[in-house]
Amino acid sequence: MSTYGYFDDNAREYVITRPDTPLPWLNYLGQDEFFGLCTQTAGGYSFWKDAKLRRITRYRYNNNPMDNDGRFLYVKQGRSVWNPGWKPTRARLDAFECRHGLGYSRITGRKDGIEVEQLMFVPPQENLEIWKVSVRNKSRRVQKLSLFSFVEFCSFEALNDMTNYQRTYSIGEVEIEDGAIYHKTEYRERRNHYALFACTRKVDGYDTSRDAFVGVHHGLHDPQAVLAGKCTNSRAYGWNPCGAHQINLTLKPGQEETFAFILAYVDQGDLPKFDAPFVMNKAKGREILKKYSDLAAVDAAFATVKARWAGLLSTYQASSVPNAHLSRMVNTWNQVQCMATFNLSRSASGYETGIGRGMGYRDSNQDILGFVHLLPDRARQRILDIASTQLSDGTCYHQYQPLTKKGNADIGGDFNDDPLWLVLSTCAYIRETGDTTILDAPCGYADKPGSTDSLLHHIETSIAYTLNNRGPHGLPLIGHADWNDCLNLNCFSKEPNESFQTSGDVEGSKAESVMIAGLFLYAARDLVGLYKSMGRDADAARVQGYYDDMLKTVEEQAWDGAWYTRAFDAAGNPVGSKVCEEGKVFIESQAWCVLGGAGRDNGRAKKALQAVEKYLYRRDLGCALQYPPYSTYHLELGEVSSYPPGYKENAGVFSHNNTWIHIGWTMQGDGERALEYYLSICPSAKKDHDVYRSEPYVYAQMTASQFSPTPGEAKNSWLTGTGAWSFVVASQSILGVQPDFAGLRIDPCVPKKWKGFTVTRKFRGVTYTIEVKNLRGRSKGVKSLLVDGVRIEGNLIPLPTDGRTAVRVEATLGA
Ligand code: BGC
Repeated sequence: MSTYGYFDDNAREYVITRPDTPLPWLNYLGQDEFFGLCTQTAGGYSFWKDAKLRRITRYRYNNNPMDNDGRFLYVKQGRSVWNPGWKPTRARLDAFECRHGLGYSRITGRKDGIEVEQLMFVPPQENLEIWKVSVRNKSRRVQKLSLFSFVEFCSFEALNDMTNYQRTYSIGEVEIEDGAIYHKTEYRERRNHYALFACTRKVDGYDTSRDAFVGVHHGLHDPQAVLAGKCTNSRAYGWNPCGAHQINLTLKPGQEETFAFILAYVDQGDLPKFDAPFVMNKAKGREILKKYSDLAAVDAAFATVKARWAGLLSTYQASSVPNAHLSRMVNTWNQVQCMATFNLSRSASGYETGIGRGMGYRDSNQDILGFVHLLPDRARQRILDIASTQLSDGTCYHQYQPLTKKGNADIGGDFNDDPLWLVLSTCAYIRETGDTTILDAPCGYADKPGSTDSLLHHIETSIAYTLNNRGPHGLPLIGHADWNDCLNLNCFSKEPNESFQTSGDVEGSKAESVMIAGLFLYAARDLVGLYKSMGRDADAARVQGYYDDMLKTVEEQAWDGAWYTRAFDAAGNPVGSKVCEEGKVFIESQAWCVLGGAGRDNGRAKKALQAVEKYLYRRDLGCALQYPPYSTYHLELGEVSSYPPGYKENAGVFSHNNTWIHIGWTMQGDGERALEYYLSICPSAKKDHDVYRSEPYVYAQMTASQFSPTPGEAKNSWLTGTGAWSFVVASQSILGVQPDFAGLRIDPCVPKKWKGFTVTRKFRGVTYTIEVKNLRGRSKGVKSLLVDGVRIEGNLIPLPTDGRTAVRVEATLGA
């Protein structure tokens, strides 16, 4: 139990016990097409599919106090006005609790004998969210009160909504029918969708004009209508349409009233748009309200949210794991984060405004690694969508909009690591499912409309792209950047108004990336394995040739003496080398060379990891990205040297790349270090939340490092590649259950004192119960494997050929 909350592991909830957490602590609602962000004080917003192009409610980022706008309930009790979620009024509560669960948040606040519980969730496959509200009189006297709901609508296109007031202040339109509020901005002309906000109970008033409800000179903390105890039944004409309802209640001691608010996104589809001029056809909206006016339907919908998550998580569950942090992360929260990163990539979080970044090419490919076991069909579709944003020369749109699935030219391309990640996601999908038909699936190139090249064509194009774009050392050219978006070796920017990522000329560049070389090794080895599993030996041998060649280049050109060089800049000088004054050792090249199999036979892999330990690692913080941080701006390095030392890519602890080092230690068979390093960035293991500040249940992208003035302070939680990779680390590298092309491979790497654990894994239609025993105090190496009592050589569980759907496995570690 910390100052701010605790894990309720049985309920799979994080319970926040006071509202004033060090930063807003976020949860996500929805996992299909309708999404909501929801903080412990009910802050956040909702959107359909795309946070930029279909924003339903408004949110003001970058404001003070933080986390304004949300799904607010106000209580007016006599003269007092309060919110069960504490904000926006911040009136002192007698009791507060927020339970962030899987796909739902339940906020309960009590004051002066009245308790209000607000349970928020998005039913599966529905384009709406429900707030089930219970108001209870916990006092001994009859209480009269008014409850007000409030959301602020967004005019759907979030950037325009936030910047183009000369237009947006004149376009807002609503209709009201029996207290149900229909937000229909731009509906009359080009849109065929609207938002609906309504209560299942008869309301005593409403407002749709923010100016009327909140007041031009008031704030959300003192809305005029609530202070007056009366909604004005306003109708918005332009300005800022909102949705507010008033419900008057008289409750006897012990009495409880329950009802629900529905916030829906409605697509008219083929229905006629209008009933009459200016009168929208509201049939679909009415249908939704009818369905959920029955509270049993609300409860049934919530039950499906819970059941769905229980089903998803049952694909992978580990029990008797000796470490509680690893256990709860791998079983629950890490998988929840993987769902969020899969769905939203880097688009909408407390730090990603939903208008800046859509789906990232490299990001989404990596997100699949931690998600594919949950819903392989969706991963399949995503892989094909991503591949379709690749260009026929092998380069890729770096980002695309989820709604249109079209590459976003604003951010450009030429990030030379991008193409290779497609190999990893595709191989992960095939390992999970065995479905090699995906390789033949037609998915065109973005610059060849109508093309139907196969996914395998894309994969070969990606491999060829790296091979054909190499620099003076034979290493891959970096382009605008590699995984490290901020290592801009061709940028040379002196102009503050230009982007580090899109400016600079990459034509004719000589700057090379060792990290891409390591990633290439990894991807090539993956592809060799895939070809072999398909019996395509000639292709396997061809790609193995590329691998061998690149490995030789890496070992000859990139070993710096005690670690792998990070890159060579445009002038051919090494980056991340002992000859550099700052930025001598970088994490990514150690990680990817080791992961790609470099240094395995000559001891360099271990040395590279030891360099990470010596220069970058701190047990309480994790590994900094590089050492020493850049203290001045380097024109030839770009954004990496722009951050103050110890933050972000300038030697912050960038959690994402830490996970690769964790895998590296398991490859070395060092189970003690693997776990210790794993815990160094694990949010659940963070002790002082006033220092760490971010959510304890999901990874943050970055923690300020030992080189910063605020070591240990985390930022940018939720949408980070750390989610997927940490799940790979915990489930595959440490606990050691690894999907492989021909079956499940068992290869744990654990601390010597661990006695064992059990994993239940659903894999290609079979449920495996895998008991790992470690009676001799080993870290790695399966000595015996019993599959339904039959001893198997090696550590690969073959796929059952006799229709068995449940298999018991006993794996014993030993020499
Ligand atoms: C980006 C990633 C990138 C990482 C490191 C993140 O913000 O989404 O694509 O690899 O930063 O620069």
